[in-house]
Amino acid sequence: MAQQEDVFKKIVSHCKEYGFVFPSSDIYDGLGAVYDYGQNGVELKNNIKQYWWQSMVLLHENIVGIDAAIFMHPTTWKASGHVDAFNDPLIDNRDSKKRYRADVLIEEQLAKYEDKIQKEIEKAQKRFGDAFDEAQFRATNQRVLENQEKYDALHKRYQEVMNAEGGIDLEGMKQIILDEGIVCPISGTRNWTDVRQFNLMFKTEMGSTADGASTIYLRPETAQGIFVNYLNVQKTGRMKLPFGIAQIGKAFRNEIVARQFIFRMREFEQMEMQFFIQPGTELDWFAKWKETRMKWHQNLGFGAENYRFHDHDKLAHYANAATDIEFRMPFGFKEVEGIHSRTNFDLSQHAKYSGKKIEYFDPDRNESYTPYVIETSIGVDRMFLSIMCHSFEEQQLPDGQTRTVLHLPAALAPVKLAVFPLTKKDGMPEKAQEIINELRFHFNCKYEEKDQIGKRYRRMDAIGCPYCVTVDQQTLEDNTVTLRDRDTMEQKRVLISELRSIIEDKVSITSLLKKLL
Ligand code: GAP
Repeated sequence: MAQQEDVFKKIVSHCKEYGFVFPSSDIYDGLGAVYDYGQNGVELKNNIKQYWWQSMVLLHENIVGIDAAIFMHPTTWKASGHVDAFNDPLIDNRDSKKRYRADVLIEEQLAKYEDKIQKEIEKAQKRFGDAFDEAQFRATNQRVLENQEKYDALHKRYQEVMNAEGGIDLEGMKQIILDEGIVCPISGTRNWTDVRQFNLMFKTEMGSTADGASTIYLRPETAQGIFVNYLNVQKTGRMKLPFGIAQIGKAFRNEIVARQFIFRMREFEQMEMQFFIQPGTELDWFAKWKETRMKWHQNLGFGAENYRFHDHDKLAHYANAATDIEFRMPFGFKEVEGIHSRTNFDLSQHAKYSGKKIEYFDPDRNESYTPYVIETSIGVDRMFLSIMCHSFEEQQLPDGQTRTVLHLPAALAPVKLAVFPLTKKDGMPEKAQEIINELRFHFNCKYEEKDQIGKRYRRMDAIGCPYCVTVDQQTLEDNTVTLRDRDTMEQKRVLISELRSIIEDKVSITSLLKKLL
């Protein structure tokens, strides 16, 4: 575990050192849980967005995109339930003055019991080797049994307070924290306030106070921009059910527990698609979208064992099925995407609050109804983080040296080809520039002439550039260059005129998309 934490720290510093992600307003020491994407980060992020957008909008004739404003009429958030119910249960420690999410404190306590069990198992595994029988050990080891009992009892109480009639039982939550002896990690004391609900939406004002400014919110999800445009798109696009509307955009949440780098941010980006369907068909479509979205993730080649579905036991009152796609991060399996069967809740609520009829006339059934919705919702930043975590490697080379390499999927890499003149003379720089001038229209290329070739390779490995080309004396004679592969480090001599056809197919998003069909 500690080893994984070290790896994660290295990934965070690598992101900064190589221009992927910087803390926001870095010269002022950053702003909590807000980050900026640097020169390489923005390219990777744009490629992720392109991969998603094209898989939705290009590959599905019945999915179209929109780009709604971040500011929306304030009634939107009343109708959607966010004003009343988009809350986190918070608790303060009176000594440290630090604020925590009460549910997270309890979940961390559960994780501690799990960790203790895991440690016992690992110790025994080492001791007994191949003869180790985990199931038997779990059923008989005294320390494991004690911790499992504590875990089960806490889990049961936690489920009860979270699912209490009339919403979360806040007093019950505090009592669990006291009974478990959970202390503040800063002050080390148990001097807790009561638990209370805290709304996660950021507020601001629109218009001058003289006009009677109105409170508006920064959207906490992009989905509502799609729901309020359902009629506009359906009518102007003459869309027939089933059809989808996709959108990529910023969302804002005043997260209290904002940790783990870009995993939980206050300003982040979502890629959401709402798929409008006939009522009664939702569970079939839910199953189809689960499969489609998992395929999209696994298509990146990170290994099926690194993904899993986490079906929700507790459903929001408007949902009749929900699952998360989780990815194995260095800090455990974590949610990257949510797939939700949202019934007709959102459209009905907007119809009620706006007074507009929001329905679909079904020519086949000759009747009007409010469509049901399957939503797929993925965070761009979490996707970015999962890609970084999986691609990062400190590799031991056969000659005893090490290199830090990002094995990014070539189609997502910020730079696809680096071109180096071996030396800065004899017309080599000019020849290298000529190659770039030819290829820059097809993919992102970078020219580098500083330092020895070996150092230049290392710099390109560190940003995940899949191909490097070196122009040398022989190039000037026969128009061939050495082409070096990032992952295998193999070099081969190829004609300059062949470069485009060798590289383009491997680095294009189109080639990724073709594998989805
Ligand atoms: N419209 C549904 C919705 O917003 P969600 O599960 O709250 O559902 C969807 O969010 C996705 O947005 C998550 O799976 C995650 O990838 C991303 N996300 C949510 N909160 C985030 C945060 N604070 N920082 C980064 N990404 C976040």
